[in-house]
Amino acid sequence: GKDGYRHYMDKELHEHPLVIGQTLQRMIDPATRRVVLPELPFDLATIPRITVTACGSAFYAGLIGRYWLEAEARIPVDADVASELRYREPPLSKGGLGLMISQSGETADTLAALRSLRAGGQHVMSILNVPESTMARESDIVLDTIAGPEICVASTKAFTAQLSVLACLAIAIGRARGVIGEAREMELVQALLDLPSRAVELFGLGDDIRAAAAIIAEARDVLYLGRGSHFPVALEGALKLKEISYIHAEAYAAGEMKHGPIALIDKSVPVVASAPSGPLFEKTASNLQEAQARGGRLLVFTDPAGAARMGKIAERLVVLPEVHGFTAPILHSIAVQMLAYEVALLKGTDVDQPRNLAKSVTVE
Ligand code: M6R
Repeated sequence: GKDGYRHYMDKELHEHPLVIGQTLQRMIDPATRRVVLPELPFDLATIPRITVTACGSAFYAGLIGRYWLEAEARIPVDADVASELRYREPPLSKGGLGLMISQSGETADTLAALRSLRAGGQHVMSILNVPESTMARESDIVLDTIAGPEICVASTKAFTAQLSVLACLAIAIGRARGVIGEAREMELVQALLDLPSRAVELFGLGDDIRAAAAIIAEARDVLYLGRGSHFPVALEGALKLKEISYIHAEAYAAGEMKHGPIALIDKSVPVVASAPSGPLFEKTASNLQEAQARGGRLLVFTDPAGAARMGKIAERLVVLPEVHGFTAPILHSIAVQMLAYEVALLKGTDVDQPRNLAKSVTVE
């Protein structure tokens, strides 16, 4: 049942801290605090390339994973939605790894992509929430997300569980390839282990998130912006808003705004940004400033170190707890999901069962 929550989505949003903790527990040895993967039928150190594929939110998790895999493991990564991957006929490297991500393990497009990657000689690793699913049976190795059943059609906790697994995988591959040393691994593992308690703190931000939601609920179109690993956070925020509030939202890499979408900006198009402090912060801030100068109403998710700078331009700030830059996209994803939920409440939509959508899409 809903355990006293108004919607499954609300209940599942509140399960983020638990689910992240449980999923990490599977992958991090408590004694050594190092990432451990199940035994693999291939050698992680010699994989030439990874092809990540999935649909919807699971694909956005994969995009965040790509930033981690490239930066921390220095491995080439190709990522595409499952319904496109096969038809692109990408040249596959011999002995490469096909990395599938799916909550249900039954999504027809992802399953078809799995089969075509296997036919192309790739090892198949799947990050799945349903261990007895079709994709689980057809994979060489499954990494489990311990999210429990997800009832709401819009994915929430499964997404952060997927991110938790991807972060650990990037660390494991980085170590296998000799690019992550012990100190860096300890630092990243600590950042991950800090997440559940930081995620609990998000639930104290309800008033700020509701204030931002009130602005969005009045809009017909919303722009979501982010840079680097926060660009997929923007994609996830926009998808969630569309799914449950039926408000049109589009996500752009913050630097792309001036190449077109800025023409849309006026006071009727709110701009939501995921912009934690860090190397990309100042660039994002100046992109946002351009939007503000054109009358855009900015709703900015940042952290304590970014609050002063963003406070000068944003109409609404949501100040998330300070976390390591590596794990910030996980925390920000939860925040944009919470925002979509608050907007849907204001709109009075059927949050758990949005029109036209099914929980598991089993046709290609
Ligand atoms: O079960 P899967 O993870 O394979 O599902 C993939 C997508 O259909 C799913 O993430 C969909 O985009 C959700 N409705 C997002 O909230």
